[in-house]
Amino acid sequence: MDFKDKVVDLIASQVDLPKDQINSLIERPKNEKMGDYAFPAFALAKVLHQNPVVIAQNIADKLKSSDFAAIKAVGPYVNFSINHSKLISQTLTEILQQKEHYGDQKLGEGNVPIDMSSPNIAKPMSMGHLRSTVIGNSIAKTLQKVGYTPIKINYLGDYGTQFGKLIAAYKHWGVEEDVKKDPIMNLFKYYVKFHKEAEKHPELDDEGRAWFKKLEDGDPEAVKLWQWFRDVSLADFNRIYKELGVTFDSYKGEAFFNDKMQPVIDELKEKGLLHESRGAQVVDMGEDKNPALIVKSDGTSIYLTRDLAAAIYRMKTYHFVKMLYVVGNEQAQHFVELKSVLKKMGYDWADEIYHVPFGLITQNGKKLSTRKGNVVFLDQVLQDAVKLAQKQIEQKNPDLTNKDQVAHDVGVGAVIFHDLKNERTENFDFDLDEVVRFEGDTGPYVQYTNARAQSVLRKAAVQGHEPQLTDIQIDDDWSFGVAKSLADFPRIIARSSDKFEPSVIAKFALDLAKKFNKYYANVKVLVDDDQISARLALVQATSIVLTESLRLLGVNAPKEM
Ligand code: ARG
Repeated sequence: MDFKDKVVDLIASQVDLPKDQINSLIERPKNEKMGDYAFPAFALAKVLHQNPVVIAQNIADKLKSSDFAAIKAVGPYVNFSINHSKLISQTLTEILQQKEHYGDQKLGEGNVPIDMSSPNIAKPMSMGHLRSTVIGNSIAKTLQKVGYTPIKINYLGDYGTQFGKLIAAYKHWGVEEDVKKDPIMNLFKYYVKFHKEAEKHPELDDEGRAWFKKLEDGDPEAVKLWQWFRDVSLADFNRIYKELGVTFDSYKGEAFFNDKMQPVIDELKEKGLLHESRGAQVVDMGEDKNPALIVKSDGTSIYLTRDLAAAIYRMKTYHFVKMLYVVGNEQAQHFVELKSVLKKMGYDWADEIYHVPFGLITQNGKKLSTRKGNVVFLDQVLQDAVKLAQKQIEQKNPDLTNKDQVAHDVGVGAVIFHDLKNERTENFDFDLDEVVRFEGDTGPYVQYTNARAQSVLRKAAVQGHEPQLTDIQIDDDWSFGVAKSLADFPRIIARSSDKFEPSVIAKFALDLAKKFNKYYANVKVLVDDDQISARLALVQATSIVLTESLRLLGVNAPKEM
């Protein structure tokens, strides 16, 4: 049992308040010397008609527990000081017994489709799609740890008017051999050229529209080209996913829903929700809001209509308990419309749909835009990161055996960690040198700390010492700092999964790594006394929790680096 829960139980034995409420009232004293938890007695003053200082004193007088070194009233508060060695031994025991299952809990169950990554075919995967991929992946792992069954869906952008343009561009300038050699790069080149040329020759846009119409009507040439673009693009994307270590349960993209939109449009009509507005079909969103566009005036369907069909399809297929869309901030309005149209259709499960937005990645403060060709090629970023990691490893540990694998884990891990360490809605700037540093708030720093813990354990083993749980008596402040942080892990998992916020785990991992490094700088672990196996237990517990934190972020933790 967690020590905060113990405080709640003790208070509950004296006070007539529900445990939930007690739990939410408990504070951390500002000065750590005053104690680890504080219960504010003024919460009771109104009910008991007593001075809170007196109430606090009365409660403190009655409480005794070996889990706490002191329970005393300080003004209107009851302060609790944890018994250090109790917390340390209890926490280490739990972790060494449960290993990577430490922190597992049952906060819910059932299917949770996560719409994530979802890049657009024939375009380079953007930094935004990278964010969606790694955030979605981490949320999936975290939800799994708390009992849900995540279903990772890559809703590929494999349909839309831009494919008409791409086909037109390919017909003008395309070279089959080039596309085969480097599909995304070349298709994208045609696409950028199309936009440039169309500024001078607007009739190109008409051509693009005509090709899109053909595609919608099933014209064999259009369909064949589209299928080819899709296949080669997906193969390219899969290379990046493999680098990142991310897999998907479904690749049903926009095109899959082509024949599933008409039933939705019919249903909207039947339910009297569809109105005509300037030739288009729309759903009213309320007085001061723009109506939601369902069918354009030229009869073609749009993004929202597909998403409606996809949401309904997923409900029928997965009977989900929640559904997440990990998509950039800039699409917030779209998801508001999606939810509210579903609600209007009478689907109450729309309440369990969550848009999980995230901010932009900028470079030198500037937004990246695919359309203008101002784009970062992701595989390049990953390769550069691995090279930088390689250089650092070469300096620090030239004799390392599996250098390539470690450089990959560190380089790619650094990029992922950097993405996840800030609250996801924040924008951030991308500077590769910053990302792959072994010091500071980086992924490599956490990995390096874990590798250091592992190296201590290896050295100890050579000397014949193993971590052990019997007779743990350590109670110094450094060990306590580490153990307290370790004891927090289950709550960290709960908070991260509740808010769909991987940064909670990343920040925790950084904090734990810092505490462990302080511990390591101040406490000699490998001294042959009667507490050596207890200290090794602390080192091992730290490594287990760092490794599990990194795993939840989608980052590997090499044992040596
Ligand atoms: N392909 C879209 C884009 O790149 C993202 C799709 C997000 N998912 C969704 N169901 N709308 O902007």
